[in-house]
Amino acid sequence: MHPGYRLVPCVTDSTSCIPNINNHGAAAASAKKAAQQHSVTVNGKTYETDSWFNTPSKILESTSRRLHLQKDHPVYITRQIIESKFTQPTFKSYNDFDPVVSTAENFDSLGFPADHPGRSKSDTYYINSTTLLRTHTSAHEAQLFRASSSPGYLISGDVYRRDEIDRSHYPIFHQLEGARVWDRTKVPNGDIVKAIYDDLAKLPTHNVQVEDPNPPHHVERNPLQAEHHSAAEAEAVSAHLKRSLELMVVEIFSRAKQAAARQDPNYVDEPLKVRWVEAYFPFTSPSWELEVYYQGDWLEVLGSGVSKQEILINAGVPDQIGWAFGIGLDRIAMLLFQIPDIRLFWSTDERFLGQFRGVSDDLDRLKRFLPFSKYPACPKDVSFWLRPTSAAGGDDRRGNVHDFHENDLMEIVREVAGDCVEDVKLVDEFVHPKTGRKSLCYRVNYRSLERTLTNEQAVTMHEGVRRMLVERLGVELR
Ligand code: PHE
Repeated sequence: MHPGYRLVPCVTDSTSCIPNINNHGAAAASAKKAAQQHSVTVNGKTYETDSWFNTPSKILESTSRRLHLQKDHPVYITRQIIESKFTQPTFKSYNDFDPVVSTAENFDSLGFPADHPGRSKSDTYYINSTTLLRTHTSAHEAQLFRASSSPGYLISGDVYRRDEIDRSHYPIFHQLEGARVWDRTKVPNGDIVKAIYDDLAKLPTHNVQVEDPNPPHHVERNPLQAEHHSAAEAEAVSAHLKRSLELMVVEIFSRAKQAAARQDPNYVDEPLKVRWVEAYFPFTSPSWELEVYYQGDWLEVLGSGVSKQEILINAGVPDQIGWAFGIGLDRIAMLLFQIPDIRLFWSTDERFLGQFRGVSDDLDRLKRFLPFSKYPACPKDVSFWLRPTSAAGGDDRRGNVHDFHENDLMEIVREVAGDCVEDVKLVDEFVHPKTGRKSLCYRVNYRSLERTLTNEQAVTMHEGVRRMLVERLGVELR
């Protein structure tokens, strides 16, 4: 029912191919080497590895790219636009924290429960059982609260997650974290609520429509930290958070619209709308996401909330209260510049990078990206029986069955074919009525952003994927 099935004919010319088809060999060899040597070096620092080590060498090597620090890169420009709304001296910026952090920083300091799925090896890249590639910039919150060197801070950085493969997911992306606190012992007359509202009154206003249908906190859905904050305090912090983040988002999307209008004489200006949605994060309460209505869709752009007091207490600043937020830069950059595929950010092709030159020095030159070409896709299917497992099995989240984790398949595809895969989708699932064995069929869509892939090249990569699925995951190919 599946193999070799194609949606679009694959071209068969002999243009040279970028994918390193031996890549999986190289990656496997270096993983093996790391296992033998029991150590690995990332950004010049050496770490002991153990049975938790699951980070491919390609990911480790990419830690040196730091796109958020590369002038004129769309991710850098997006960071710049956001930073322009949170100015010195209230906000201090930190852009070069090392992405290798401890499980204590990434999870424990933020109150993640021991069984939180984010801690699993199938979701996170580990160096060893207590060291990982940060999964979010919140990993640095506690250290900056502790340092307490300004009332607010911004942190940008590359973050890493084992995830699915499609045009808006990449195992490395960039986040910008921000926080703002007030100290009960330092505000005039000890009136922290008044101090926060005074600061709020100093912020500019905007005229974008905001939907905020929920109460400021809700005892079940979005609780106040009643043991630490009065309702008035939590409401003041929330009001300051909301205006600050609305102003940031209005700035980003106004710039996106200006760029669109400059380039497209027929551009129809639809008024911007934003809405606050209740959310949950282990390290804030109450919590919200902010969504923006843009080109016909509600887009979730950030997570935020009133910082959990335990984090501040553990950081040695129990008298401070405040808010924090985190925003993904790549998705925002994709909207700002109309970039259709997240892999493009990693391109060193001048046809990509050249389009943004000079924008960092003059944000009014921001332009939409003009795609240089769409090369043909080469979809290939792979079907396999899962290894039968004993009773307990794995979990059932996101299509994981038995001891199969979809992210492990994604990682194999990435290791073999790198950026030559546009997406990977589950296209069929089947349980044998007699044996109860389960079979899955995935479609791997090979397509380079930079050149035409030949059918032979796609076949070679696909062979590599099939081989590694058997070797690493113990599946039985159909
Ligand atoms: N770290 C969160 C994430 O990656 C975002 C967040 C940051 C939420 C700060 C609340 C406060 O999804």
